Amino acid sequence: MSDEIFSDRMLSLGLARVSEAAAIASAKLIGSGDEKAADQAAVDAMRTQLNMLDIDGTIVIGEGERDEAPMLYIGEKVGSGSGPGVDIALDPLEGTTLTAKDMPNALAVIAMGPKGSMLHAPDVYMDKLAIGPGFAPDLVTLDMSPTERIEKLAAAKGCAPAGIMVCVLERERHEDLVKELRATGARIRLITDGDVAGVIHCTDPAKTGIDIYMGSGGAPEGVLAAAALKCLGGQIQGRLTFRNDDERGRAAKAGITDLDQIYRLDDLVRNDVIFAATGVTDGSIVKGAQRDGDYLETETILMRSKTGSVRRLSYRQNNL
Ligand code: FBP
Repeated sequence: MSDEIFSDRMLSLGLARVSEAAAIASAKLIGSGDEKAADQAAVDAMRTQLNMLDIDGTIVIGEGERDEAPMLYIGEKVGSGSGPGVDIALDPLEGTTLTAKDMPNALAVIAMGPKGSMLHAPDVYMDKLAIGPGFAPDLVTLDMSPTERIEKLAAAKGCAPAGIMVCVLERERHEDLVKELRATGARIRLITDGDVAGVIHCTDPAKTGIDIYMGSGGAPEGVLAAAALKCLGGQIQGRLTFRNDDERGRAAKAGITDLDQIYRLDDLVRNDVIFAATGVTDGSIVKGAQRDGDYLETETILMRSKTGSVRRLSYRQNNL
């Protein structure tokens, strides 16, 4: 491994190029109904761009285990190999179904940091809870009931529960959660997919209308969302959930011994990181890829946690 220092400033533009390339490739398949093709296009483009960067990179959050994913698998080495040693978390297309059906909030997402900066989360579910910046630490926790979380957040915001909008993935496994939340009077934004965007939405309630995220989704997506919150502010807690021994085995393989641990933001992302997300379909965080005559235009949010800098980059590529 190279002993060059991770220079987040120098690498951030490179990171934006990587998410742009993935978004542009998958944008061509928006509305195609073909989730697999959209995902594959994003994976291929992201990997090609990533390998152009002067980094000695290792994928820690990727497309899956080596035997399941031929490209961008966990442990795959990426980059030219001549730069600093870095860990990479990525989801070339976060929202494959959203893209295939032309629904909002599909993103190409990538985060990068020094070695050991991000939790090596196994591909299992994670129970997640997130709020935006400006609240006391642990105002809401995973140990509280959903009702208690709503009461605490409503009190901190100085509003009634009806003034709180909760984002929840629409899944059968969340039926009880939704029932309990409705009984509090809180309102719920049900999303069909895309909980990285769901969590990020909590950081800007004035724009997105979302105050709090609750429910389980992919653990890898939990780490990516935490990387975004490390840059934007806010709180996230996650606890892995396991349905069988195979999933517990995945945790063991990832070096996780305490299966009940609650991970806070600094456990999920332990060092400064850079984060880029490019819109594939339209969303509240970034615009989706737009066709303009012969061109395809993208919007990327590019952030560094060290400085809290947030850039929005628009990029135009001849699409012929
Ligand atoms: P994909 O883009 O890989 O399909 O993931 C979309 C997603 O909705 C994630 O945002 C979320 O964490 C996960 O799937 C939820 O998993 P499930 O669909 O099994 O509930």
